[in-house]
Amino acid sequence: MTSGFTTALGGTAGGGTGVDLTGRVAMVTGGGGGIGRACAVALAAAGALVHVVDVDARAAAAVAEQVGGRAHAADLADPAAVEGLPAEVDVLVNNAGLQHVSPIEEFPPERFETLQRVMVTAPFLLLRRSLPHMYGRGWGRVVNISSVHGLRASPFKSGYVTAKHALEGLSKVTALEGAAHGVTSNCVNPGYVRTPLVERQIAAQAEAHGIPPERVVGEVLLRGSAIKRLIEPEEVASVAVWLCGPHTAHVTGASFPMDGGWTAA
Ligand SMILES: NC(=O)c1ccc[n+]([C@@H]2O[C@H](COP(=O)([O-])OP(=O)(O)OC[C@H]3O[C@@H](n4cnc5c(N)ncnc54)[C@H](O)[C@@H]3O)[C@@H](O)[C@H]2O)c1
Repeated sequence: MTSGFTTALGGTAGGGTGVDLTGRVAMVTGGGGGIGRACAVALAAAGALVHVVDVDARAAAAVAEQVGGRAHAADLADPAAVEGLPAEVDVLVNNAGLQHVSPIEEFPPERFETLQRVMVTAPFLLLRRSLPHMYGRGWGRVVNISSVHGLRASPFKSGYVTAKHALEGLSKVTALEGAAHGVTSNCVNPGYVRTPLVERQIAAQAEAHGIPPERVVGEVLLRGSAIKRLIEPEEVASVAVWLCGPHTAHVTGASFPMDGGWTAA
């Protein structure tokens, strides 16, 4: 890629970064929707063959068809399903995630466990599978879609905040071990992104606070953000693609807030 491009989702990603992933194979977990779909579109536009992994088989198939990639229906909470995924991957985007909002004393333990499996154990297992391939080629890029909640806590999100903080640690260890093999590992830390995951939270918060959904965005979700708009998925994807480009080989073990100034305050 030497110039900007317009994604099928209407935004732009990877524009002007000079990222050429021709001949590279990428895997995007949770690629059937939201940020994952935007990453799959952007990586394919940069030339990569993209494995689109999602628990939603139809969503994975639709995105794979859109980007000329391969669809894989897999529940990442199931280690056996993870073991069935391709290991020959040069770019791994650990993106699949889910939320549960509840005070700790009411948080269902099995729900807590599921969040850790999908957002921590699955990335670990995928790294275990794909790092030998990356090391063999002397090049690899690991992009972990973390969150502001990988750096900061919020009440009632114990499962999510715990998982994202763990993902931050896993990313840093990957960076240290991968450095000698040309493999970098970084986290992207968005605030609230306009995806189905957040639309579900907006509806729930509107009900909990007894206010219209429009007011939830400004008064609840973006209270800590200096920029008062949701992030678009393509904006997150553009950082993921940038981390795979020729100018970021020295960038590793880092975390990139894109949170409208939330963590600056
Ligand atoms: N939306 C936000 O505001 C926001 C902010 C910061 C970080 N994130 C992170 O970005 C990532 C993507 O979030 P999103 O907003 O695009 O969510 P989303 O719900 O829109 O999409 C998540 C995708 O992951 C898939 N998925 C969920 N559980 C899975 C499982 N067990 N196995 C395989 N696939 C599974 C879903 O089917 C879906 O396609 C998550 O890790 C999330 O924590 C999102």
